Amino acid sequence: MVKICVIGSCAVDLVVTSDRRPGAGETVLGESFRIVPGGKGANQAVAAARLGAEVVMIGRVGEDNFGDVILNNLKLNGVNTSHVEAAPNLESGTAHIVLAEGDNSIVVVKGANDLVTPEYIRQKLNVIQEMDIVLIQQEIPEDTVAYVSHICTQAGIPLLLNPAPAREVDPSVIEHAAYLTPNEHEAALLFGGLSPAQALRKYPNKLIITEGAQGARYYNGREEVLVPAYKVEVVDTTGAGDTFNAAFAVSIAEGKSIFESVRFANRAASLSVAGFGAQGGMPARDEVEAGL
Ligand code: RIB
Repeated sequence: MVKICVIGSCAVDLVVTSDRRPGAGETVLGESFRIVPGGKGANQAVAAARLGAEVVMIGRVGEDNFGDVILNNLKLNGVNTSHVEAAPNLESGTAHIVLAEGDNSIVVVKGANDLVTPEYIRQKLNVIQEMDIVLIQQEIPEDTVAYVSHICTQAGIPLLLNPAPAREVDPSVIEHAAYLTPNEHEAALLFGGLSPAQALRKYPNKLIITEGAQGARYYNGREEVLVPAYKVEVVDTTGAGDTFNAAFAVSIAEGKSIFESVRFANRAASLSVAGFGAQGGMPARDEVEAGL
């Protein structure tokens, strides 16, 4: 069983469904409201655990009811939560999601996730050093991502940076990461002056650009490879990217090739969109393997 450490956000998703999303200053009537577990970090931890990895999550929750909901859900999914500590006097992270017109719009309020600081990580170095791979995203402070990228390089542990949500990233972080998995929008921000093709050639077997329903693309040192996505009926795309990242990390940590890992990740992500909520459709290992 591979050991994966996910360093990132925990949240509760407050999801409304509606025929269409409101414009500025407009009110529309919605159809339903649900509260489900979310946060890119917690989503990736749950996805990796369902795929058979031993997962340790490093994160923060608030000292509130949502904090209990988040912790219980992680435990229920087999994630080690010893390093998800409650932050006094802070609310848990929340994501405010509108599902409309076949896609989501999300406003994230980071809350306690802002306390996943470099200092907090420093206290967890002994945990990180035992891992096969570390998975990180960008709903926690920027200096934490930079710090983790440095300590992973020093410790010789591969780091997968999922640069979501989009923001500019210090070039040293890009160099330190073993794998980068932006979508096209995030890639444009990361590699400002470069076209996707130029960026892929600059980072062979390291940069994987996800292209939604098209699949995911990387450069193998000789040519660009597009690994096509699987076609499925979509219920909710929320969490598909998180499932992709977790599945890719599990497969790479198991020693599979980039091609096999992207294919595995595509399959897992395609299954994840068949359920409601970020984690509702996240598949178990045998479901992914059956569909490959
Ligand atoms: O990647 C999907 C996640 O992003 C949602 O679960 C929501 O919490 C937002 O953070």
